Amino acid sequence: MSANDLKRQAAEVALSMVEPGMKLGLGTGSTAAAFVDLLGAKVKQGLDVLCVPTSEATRAQAAALGIPLTTLDEEPFLDLTVDGADEIDQELRLIKGGGGALLREKIVATASDRMIVIADATKLVDTLGRFPLPIEVVPFGLGATLSMIEMLTRDCGVEGELVVRKLASGEPFKTDSGNLIVDAHYSVIDDPEMLDEALKMVPGVVENGLFIGIADVAIVAGAEGVKVIEATYEGDDEEYA
Ligand code: 5RP
Repeated sequence: MSANDLKRQAAEVALSMVEPGMKLGLGTGSTAAAFVDLLGAKVKQGLDVLCVPTSEATRAQAAALGIPLTTLDEEPFLDLTVDGADEIDQELRLIKGGGGALLREKIVATASDRMIVIADATKLVDTLGRFPLPIEVVPFGLGATLSMIEMLTRDCGVEGELVVRKLASGEPFKTDSGNLIVDAHYSVIDDPEMLDEALKMVPGVVENGLFIGIADVAIVAGAEGVKVIEATYEGDDEEYA
């Protein structure tokens, strides 16, 4: 089965958890896009939902499918966000931001009663960090921000190359909020909570791609089926859909 088939399978299970009348956060990336496609088809059949997209790309996709959209200004509390992830560990801690939407993704997920993460099984890891951690920074004072990230993260035992993300043209990648993304090649993040705290101390850092204590459920599609992992944050509670 192709990666796209697995993403679609995970998206289908997530869609089965959507109820009429829900206010939804719509994630960003190829897996989230599979969910938005399926949701669009349901909306055409009459499903009543109201959605907040986590990026301009998702906004355009959802609008083209006729999905009713709103903003967090109009609807500050959502029922459910469905989004992808770059890495998922056993405690449902995530790395997100491969698509550069981590700031809006975190705002929308945090405004939601529940967050469901959808992914293919390649995203499951024992330890976070092989995927470079995206860090959103303001353009002003970039050099000072990079130095402070290096200094503070070294203090918590994490080191790695910091790379300012660029487009194929060589221009810096800009987020939907006009910021830069620094991809931190840490390889191994033994203590995500400590790293998250350290990054929050850097004034030029707007957000980082560690999602800790935010995801409630991960729906992970692999060769052996679709695994639904509930975050109890106390033990491992898994079942197969
Ligand atoms: C975008 C994200 C995506 O959810 C993440 O990059 C996964 O993308 P994909 O589903 O295409 O693998 O965080 O900022």
